[in-house]
Amino acid sequence: MAMTNDIKYVGVNDHEVDLFEGQYDVPNGMAYNSYVISDEKIAVMDTVDINFADEWLANVEKALDGRKPDYLVVQHMEPDHSANIVTFAERYPEAKIVSSAKAFVMMQQFFGTDFSDRQIVVGEGSTLELGKHTLNFVTAPMVHWPEVIMTYDSCDKVLFSADGFGKFGALDIDEDWACEARRYYFGIVGKFGAQVQSVLKKAATLDIETICPLHGPILTENLGYYIGLYDTWSSYKPESEGVTIAYTSVYGNTKKAAELLAEKLEAKGCKAELHDLARMDMAEAVEDAFRYDRLVLATTTYNGDIFPFMRTFIDHLVEHGYKNRTVALIENGTWALTAAKVMTKLMEGCKNITWAENTVHIKSALNDTSLAEIDALADELTK
Ligand code: FEO
Repeated sequence: MAMTNDIKYVGVNDHEVDLFEGQYDVPNGMAYNSYVISDEKIAVMDTVDINFADEWLANVEKALDGRKPDYLVVQHMEPDHSANIVTFAERYPEAKIVSSAKAFVMMQQFFGTDFSDRQIVVGEGSTLELGKHTLNFVTAPMVHWPEVIMTYDSCDKVLFSADGFGKFGALDIDEDWACEARRYYFGIVGKFGAQVQSVLKKAATLDIETICPLHGPILTENLGYYIGLYDTWSSYKPESEGVTIAYTSVYGNTKKAAELLAEKLEAKGCKAELHDLARMDMAEAVEDAFRYDRLVLATTTYNGDIFPFMRTFIDHLVEHGYKNRTVALIENGTWALTAAKVMTKLMEGCKNITWAENTVHIKSALNDTSLAEIDALADELTK
């Protein structure tokens, strides 16, 4: 597929992957993107997942149109992009491997070779002349690995953005960009907001007409929309007004409270998103916690602690730098009503949290007292 006169898409779609990166459900599969830039010299941008060697090599061969590649640019060493470096190096023994110093260390670790006789080490501000195309390298450390580089082609005004601006989902499925890009961002990149901010500052100095990520569609129009969302997400600002209600429920009583609160919020015109942490995709709950400005956590006492799915969820929030939101609690306990205390303690790692004044306390099942507390919490969250 030609993107510009000189740049062709040579990536692949994966509908077989069970869990992307070993943990994420990807109901619509995954795309591993790769590109060929043909000029006086030819550069191939990244490889693809190990299971797609043949398909990718065939795509590359077609794009090369009888020529040989001069360079393989490796922007990121995570195996969904790097697994076929050796395959490529063997197929095209004259091609040089272009990457960051840290990436060559990783190649030694992954493959037992750092291609010392054919490596070109690039860093911030390095360039590679292909002819009329000049590749300008931008380091993007910890977006989301330390070796990552991005590449700006000043001829076609294309930014090759590594995992940045990527999303879950194969390219032969038509779906909304933001939903799966947001789940991808907060799951995989979200901890590194400061590093994303610093790359966005560098990108702001470039004249970009096209963004070519390593996952998801090539972005050609309305780039301000995508860059704006990345700016919001990486600065930990809420994107939308609304309440995420994340709950666990052993026998349905905590669920009843969560649903009742959602109904009351909706009745007051406030968006409420319910997540049963044991039964739904937890990455969706993490995404919504970051998306909305208010969060309610509802769980039970369990083994002197809290129900395990809630502990895991809070761990995700802390690990990903959750901050700048209002949080309220619903606790349930039959003989030890301590879940709110445990959740508060676990959330200590989150900065700038405004705690709701109202907490809902349930002893086994809802009663008049806890129902009144739900009313009070709904009022507080919508005032
Ligand atoms: Fe798409 Fe970080 O690998």
